[in-house]
Amino acid sequence: MTVEKETVAEQPVWRRFVGRTVLVTGAGTGFGAAIAARAAQEGADVAVHYRSSRAGAEATVERVRAAGRDAILVQADISSWDQIKRMAAEVFDRFGRLDVLVNNVGDVATEQMSWRDIDEAVIDRVLSVDIKGTMFMIHEFGSRMLDQGQGAIVNIASTVVVRGSPRAPQYAAGKYGILGLTKSYARIFAPRVRVNAFAPGFIETEATLRRQDWNTGRREQLIAQTPMGRIPGPDEYAGAALFLASDDAAHMTGNFMIDDGGYSMIGA
Ligand SMILES: NC(=O)c1ccc[n+]([C@@H]2O[C@H](COP(=O)([O-])OP(=O)(O)OC[C@H]3O[C@@H](n4cnc5c(N)ncnc54)[C@H](OP(=O)(O)O)[C@@H]3O)[C@@H](O)[C@H]2O)c1
Repeated sequence: MTVEKETVAEQPVWRRFVGRTVLVTGAGTGFGAAIAARAAQEGADVAVHYRSSRAGAEATVERVRAAGRDAILVQADISSWDQIKRMAAEVFDRFGRLDVLVNNVGDVATEQMSWRDIDEAVIDRVLSVDIKGTMFMIHEFGSRMLDQGQGAIVNIASTVVVRGSPRAPQYAAGKYGILGLTKSYARIFAPRVRVNAFAPGFIETEATLRRQDWNTGRREQLIAQTPMGRIPGPDEYAGAALFLASDDAAHMTGNFMIDDGGYSMIGA
């Protein structure tokens, strides 16, 4: 692959995905929108998935087109396998192939500020999106990538798999489940389709900024515990997440990569 370098918004951006196709789930909001825009800046045509944030997804499509790339809009509730099958048919019919899938959708249970607020409905909701939905996505799109001969899947995890989540234990369980899926499908699909997990620390997305605890001291507490001394926005994390889908990561599969400014610093 030819790797070119160009300047976007005064930041040097490596063009690692020239001529490739990328699907990003949850790309109508936050981190997913940033990953979709970055993939386009790096040369990819992008399928922009959303569930309910249609206006946000249309804005992401505009960002992709502003980068000179083709974009398609796809909608699905990923807790439904039937809807995922329909979405897969749409993406493959339109693009002909899919080189990269970024499973960014995640239900963080942001409305839950304490473990004491847990009820059965919120446990079922989070696990059905984060585990069952991510599994459907890997299964359906990964099978098609295997048939086409190659592909890369990046599952968005979180540092909650290292530190747990005293606020929402079911969210940590969901993200831990994603590690099990990552390792299992990495072995199933190797060597043709790679499957890895990207674990960001806190990201200042709209969802984070809306959180009650974020505005009452949590942000400052985390910054004090982070050696890099700041909490980045989604654009800064997007290139690191896409590294796992790039040719530079060609020998990585079933692997888990943390990007958190030194907050966790796990041992080998
Ligand atoms: N923000 C952080 O600090 C942080 C830290 C570590 C990891 N992460 C992870 O990064 C990812 C994105 O987070 P974010 O901050 O950008 O949050 P966000 O804006 O709330 O994004 C969540 C996305 O998931 C989609 N979604 C939720 N349930 C769905 C379902 N059943 N079917 C299809 N789509 C569904 C939403 O789509 P619609 O809006 O279209 O319904 C939304 O775009 C998540 O996996 C999160 O766990 C975030």
